[in-house]
Amino acid sequence: MNRFTLALSTLLASLRTRGLRKTLRLAVDEFRFDRQLGLDTGGFLDTTSMDIVDGKLDAAQPYMPTARITFNEICKQLDPVLRLGTFVDYGSGKGRVLVLATLSGFNKVVGVEFERTLCDTARRNLATLKRAGATTPTEIINQDAATFPIPTEASTFYFYNPFDEQVMNDVLKKIQQSLRLKPRPHTIIYMNPTCHEVFIKAGFHLQYRGDSSVGQAFHLYHI
Ligand SMILES: C[S@@+](CC[C@H](N)C(=O)[O-])C[C@H]1O[C@@H](n2cnc3c(N)ncnc32)[C@H](O)[C@@H]1O
Repeated sequence: MNRFTLALSTLLASLRTRGLRKTLRLAVDEFRFDRQLGLDTGGFLDTTSMDIVDGKLDAAQPYMPTARITFNEICKQLDPVLRLGTFVDYGSGKGRVLVLATLSGFNKVVGVEFERTLCDTARRNLATLKRAGATTPTEIINQDAATFPIPTEASTFYFYNPFDEQVMNDVLKKIQQSLRLKPRPHTIIYMNPTCHEVFIKAGFHLQYRGDSSVGQAFHLYHI
C-alpha cells in the first residue's frame, strides 16, 4: 500500500467508525500540530517502505502518529507520581508522543524505534523542542522493541498498536520481569488495544478502559 492509499483508507475508516465531526476535529488538530511547534511528526510510513535495523517487519504496523487530543486526555487518567519516572514509547516513530510526554512533565523520555529514517526525524524533532527551551532528558534508541532492555526507572510504557501478539508477548515478559525485580509505580498505556488478550494472559490487569473525545480507544494496565 503506498502513502496515498494508506492515507485514504485511514480517512475512510475514520469516517466510518468516528463520523464526520470527530474525523474533522482530528484532521484539524493533525494539520495544526506540526505547524504550531515547527516539527515534522505527521504522515504515514508503510512497512514495505521501512528500513529497519533488526526485528520482524511482518509483525509491525505502519507508522502513524498518536493524536495530540487523545494523548492529552490519556495523561489526565495517569497518577501524577508516574511523572517522576521515565516514559518509554515502544515504536516511537517520528517522536510525536515523545514530544507530548516531554511537554507533559515526565522526568525522562525514551523512544524505541526499529526504523532508521523515523529515528532520524524524531531526533531532529526533539532537537527543535530543546532549542525552544525544553530541558527534559530524551533518548531515541534505534532498536527492535523485543530486545530493548527496560530502564529500571521506567514507570510509563506506551504502545500505539505497534506490533502483533508475538512481539507484544515478548515485550510484556520483559516489562513484567523488570517490575518484579524492582517493584515501582507503573502503568502501561495501550492505544488501539488489539492485543488485549495477550496482556491478560501475561498476567496484567486492566485498570482503565477509555475512549478519547475523538473516538480513539485506549486501555491502561498494571501488573
Ligand atoms: C502506529 S506507529 C506509533 C508511533 C508513535 N508511537 C506514536 O504514537 O506517535 C507504530 C510504530 O512502531 C514501530 N515498530 C513496529 N514494530 C517495531 C519493533 N519491533 N521495534 C521497534 N519499533 C517497531 C513502527 O515502525 C512504527 O513507527
